[in-house]
Amino acid sequence: MNKLTFIFLLISLVWLASILVYLTRNQGGEGATGGGPTTSPATLPTKEVFHCEHIDAVYTWVNGSDPIHIEKRTQRSGNSRYSQPGNNRFRDLMGLKYSLRSLKKYAPWIRRVHVVADDQYPSWFDTNNDEINFIFHRDYFPNVEDVPTFNSNGIEANFFNLPDDQVADCFIYFNDDIFVGSPIEPKDFWDPVYGQAIYKSSWTAPQSKEKQQNIWHASVAYTNELLNREWEVDNSNRHYASHGANFFNKKIFKDMQQLLPEEFKATARHPFRTAQDVQVPFLYLQMVQRYYATFTPRAINHYALIQDDLSKMKVEYKKILDRRPKTVCLNDGLSVDNPNQEVIDELYIMFETFFPEKPSWEL
Ligand SMILES: *[C@@H]1O[C@H](CO)[C@@H](O)[C@H](O)[C@H]1NC(C)=O
Repeated sequence: MNKLTFIFLLISLVWLASILVYLTRNQGGEGATGGGPTTSPATLPTKEVFHCEHIDAVYTWVNGSDPIHIEKRTQRSGNSRYSQPGNNRFRDLMGLKYSLRSLKKYAPWIRRVHVVADDQYPSWFDTNNDEINFIFHRDYFPNVEDVPTFNSNGIEANFFNLPDDQVADCFIYFNDDIFVGSPIEPKDFWDPVYGQAIYKSSWTAPQSKEKQQNIWHASVAYTNELLNREWEVDNSNRHYASHGANFFNKKIFKDMQQLLPEEFKATARHPFRTAQDVQVPFLYLQMVQRYYATFTPRAINHYALIQDDLSKMKVEYKKILDRRPKTVCLNDGLSVDNPNQEVIDELYIMFETFFPEKPSWEL
């Protein structure tokens, strides 16, 4: 081929590639960690933008080492697996304490902070303080007989019923293993022009190895009903929510609950997770994308697993302190029976370096 043809081909290729990049951007970039450097999408949304008058924060928290809690868990399950004090689903690594400090420091614009809990307060919490609002399961579960519960799916499935006079429609949902590492803004979660920011995991549904026992599988089966989309049997572009802070609109929860009343009720009734539970963040993500304006900014969450390997964790903690991600999820991967105490001590050192000031609600 001659030189001119070659140059022509090259230009065409570059042109095609740029169109491709443009299109992927506009679709919001499917990858969880992908996305460009900007936070605003290039075009105005065509779907409805829901409004947020206020933005609150909602935590779920449990102290699984509390003897009363262990007793309730054992009674409810009749099974020793759930009664182990160290069972890491219920272990408290002081995440809530420092996460609340982090929110005060880096998200002072949040109107009100709520902690959804069983009948417990953290030992360090001053119950005379009303800056942090505790909501107990028995106070918002529609069916009081479902309490005590040890099922996070059930706790989330009843979020539609969080008291409207306390909790704003729009709230950021934190597990107690997530904290904020540098200033976050409302538009990291919701923008009055572009709608809700969404953060997807790179995992799509269904994943064959999860099919057998994973709770998410059941939720995949519920989505067609929820989305009124019988034709879409292909779930391959349905992503799970990234494991970080999730932004929710209570009004959408109410719609979801009305569309799947039996499934929500059954999930709330299960005292422990089951494979038939609805997985609320997953369903919400499908629902909000189908009916409302959404956009996908660059990922803001840093995920790390806390492991017993001290030298590995020292590197990890240093990385977090140096990089200061907007949100950090520290998943408890320590051994169940014999966690490495030095790793936990170093964790507290990192937390204290990050957030040394004691807020008014701590004793
Ligand atoms: C959890 O419960 C145990 C046992 O009652 C208590 O010693 C500990 O301080 C509690 N932790 C928190 C964070 O409340």
